[in-house]
Amino acid sequence: MNEILLVNGPNLNLLGSREPDVYGAITLADIEARTTERAREHRMTVRSTQSNHEGVLIDAIHAGAATASGIIINPGGLTHTSVALRDAITAVALPVVEVHLSNVFAREEFRRHSYISPVAIAVISGAGARGYEFAVDALADRLAG
Ligand code: DQA
Repeated sequence: MNEILLVNGPNLNLLGSREPDVYGAITLADIEARTTERAREHRMTVRSTQSNHEGVLIDAIHAGAATASGIIINPGGLTHTSVALRDAITAVALPVVEVHLSNVFAREEFRRHSYISPVAIAVISGAGARGYEFAVDALADRLAG
């Protein structure tokens, strides 16, 4: 059974209370549950990780590569700053789907650039929590060939 590594970056542990007008009322636990349920429908499993620390996320990607077939990542603010996170993704050579709850293109200028998008198979931005379910579908399609 294919495993998905679900990676959520800085400040996403605060979902539910963090800027609800931008990110909605859903919590990270709800997102992880919905993602896991969608994966189950595709006969896939999910291993979830969240950290506020860049190096911890990189370590999780390295470790996850041992068992995962693909990655869904919301890198949070690291999207716009982290060469190291992108390098971790290219290093493990797994298909990656980048997810943002908000439409980063409709916000501040600095959110329009992503270090991750050029190495992702798909980018989903602005679909809210549903975006994670779309990401599972995209990975399932890719892994089915
Ligand atoms: C985000 C968008 C980022 O610009 C921001 O720094 C986040 C959340 C999103 O899910 O919309 O932390 O990744």
